[in-house]
Amino acid sequence: MNDISNKRKILVCCGTGCLASNSYEVYESLKEKLEINPNIIVQIEIKATGCNGLCEKGPVVKIHPDDISYFKVSAKDVDEIIEKTITNGEIINRLLYFDTNQKKKIINHMDASFYKHQRKIALRNIGEIDPLSIEDYLERDGYKALHKVLFEMEPMEVIDEVEKSGLKGRGGAGFPTGTKWRTCSKFEDYPKYVICNGDEGDPGAFMDRSIMEGDPNTIIEGMIICGYSINSNKGYLYIRDEYELARKNMEFAIDKARKLGYLGENIIGSGFDFDLEIVRGGGAFVCGESSALMASIEGNVGEPRAKYIRSVEKGLWNMPTVLNNVETWANIPPIILNGANWFNKIGTENNSGTKVFSLVGKVKNTGLVEIPMGTKLSELVFDIGCGIIKNRPFKAVQTGGPSGGCIPKEYMDVPLDFDSLSKMGSMMGSGGVIVMDDTTCMVEIARYYMEFLSEESCGKCTTCREGIKMMLNILTNITEGRGQLEDIHILESLGKTIMSASLCALGKTAPNPVLTTIQYFRNEYMDHIVNHKCSAGVCKNLTTYFIEEETCIGCGICKKNCPVNAITGSLKEIHVIDEDICIKCGNCFTACPKDSVKIGGAAYAY
Ligand code: SF4
Ligand code: SF4
Ligand code: SF4
Ligand code: FES
Repeated sequence: MNDISNKRKILVCCGTGCLASNSYEVYESLKEKLEINPNIIVQIEIKATGCNGLCEKGPVVKIHPDDISYFKVSAKDVDEIIEKTITNGEIINRLLYFDTNQKKKIINHMDASFYKHQRKIALRNIGEIDPLSIEDYLERDGYKALHKVLFEMEPMEVIDEVEKSGLKGRGGAGFPTGTKWRTCSKFEDYPKYVICNGDEGDPGAFMDRSIMEGDPNTIIEGMIICGYSINSNKGYLYIRDEYELARKNMEFAIDKARKLGYLGENIIGSGFDFDLEIVRGGGAFVCGESSALMASIEGNVGEPRAKYIRSVEKGLWNMPTVLNNVETWANIPPIILNGANWFNKIGTENNSGTKVFSLVGKVKNTGLVEIPMGTKLSELVFDIGCGIIKNRPFKAVQTGGPSGGCIPKEYMDVPLDFDSLSKMGSMMGSGGVIVMDDTTCMVEIARYYMEFLSEESCGKCTTCREGIKMMLNILTNITEGRGQLEDIHILESLGKTIMSASLCALGKTAPNPVLTTIQYFRNEYMDHIVNHKCSAGVCKNLTTYFIEEETCIGCGICKKNCPVNAITGSLKEIHVIDEDICIKCGNCFTACPKDSVKIGGAAYAY
């Protein structure tokens, strides 16, 4: 029997991503088998944690104190983990993560390229604690900031600290959090409200979901601290309806916090009262907009209202309200505990702290990443993301969700902060980053986002409702081969009108994907319109595939990958594509080892 077997803690990732790969089976199997294992005398602690960020490589299992991290673990690996790693301290090579940048297998995940460049503040506890255990949160300094605030600080001192930290709202607008709290604190109407925006609607984004699922108490603590500083006794968590696990974990945490005196009347004997209620989101993208979200909590249609009435003065039920998003709340406890100066030293001068990004698209490592503000886009894509899948040519990055802009590879040194991204015509948004390679058509990307946004426009403003639809029609024409040269000018002018005449952020930012793709990829628009060619091979009407005779070595790989047998040719002979059979799936293009499959323009004029 091995002595070290008695000292271990096993953390099994049970965030939404890993649960989808059956991580709960791994967790249950480990619990069951370790309990009955005669070689283990003292029970090993096994915890189901929130997301570790690398969901695609999940289920993730971490073993402490050995710092061994296993990826893609399944229930059938459990016996081997117990026998080899837990009992004998052996490492199972097969379950280690292979780092493509370092070209080696990694034992402790913190040494992997994906993790070692990160700095975790908002995500500091996720993956290390059981989100359903307030004791786990308390062990990692949980509720210490609240204690400090309630017993050692005046409300104005709290606001001063948050303001000095330079924290800006992480939901997209980047408004200084402390300034928002200070303005709200000055209004004397009562009751005042504190709201957490957990209505994360950007396709592919899951930053807020992970925090709600993996560390619900940090949000609760941040909101109570705000309540104390602005004299509010009531808060609401508005959670996207699809986020079932996030809602469940938040509900559980609120209940437990109430039972232990961290919520409700006379919080931890301080004399301050504050309680929280969860509201399920209405399912519309526009409900992420602050005034639409408040209308939805009130039970009204989730439509934005004019911004000349500020919600800090007349927000929920027309009473002073502070609304911040999940990630912003998660930053509050560490700022109070470690001080504004500590936070200020992280990031850049006007953009302090860190930002959580959801890195997706054609990048080798996709997942949740928290990095200091001002980190270069290239570091995110190549150092953390480990570059482009199959090492294809890198083309662009889209930041900021559906209304964000596309940044071309020439500007990869742009620092990731609110100011620099907006100078590029894009935005931080809530932190979505989509990486694109040479098989991405920038005109189609713009069309896709216009389709998404035209469906999500609430319809209140004509410019947004009709304008986005018109942009969508024009872009559809271009991608289907019916584009006209004047379309580019019409798109630009329509975009500017929609931005200036729409009421809320959805309309004001919706044209970004179109305007930035025209600005940085005008050649692709021209190629579609003038040459009837989609060089990415995405727009089917504008694509043909052919094999270049000079370079084809007759390996037959393209033929094997063709789903409709459109390719003929014997081994070591030049292969040929039959255009009449080809369905333009692009498999041969991406599979050919010699880059011999080429993309041509439309087979016929439209
Ligand atoms: S800009 Fe669009 S989403 Fe916003 S209020 Fe107007 S119509 Fe509704
Ligand atoms: S995969 Fe490329 S090199 Fe091989 S036969 Fe096809 S076109 Fe030729
Ligand atoms: S594009 Fe697809 S269907 Fe056409 S030849 Fe290549 S593999 Fe076959
Ligand atoms: S859910 Fe397990 S790594 Fe994200």
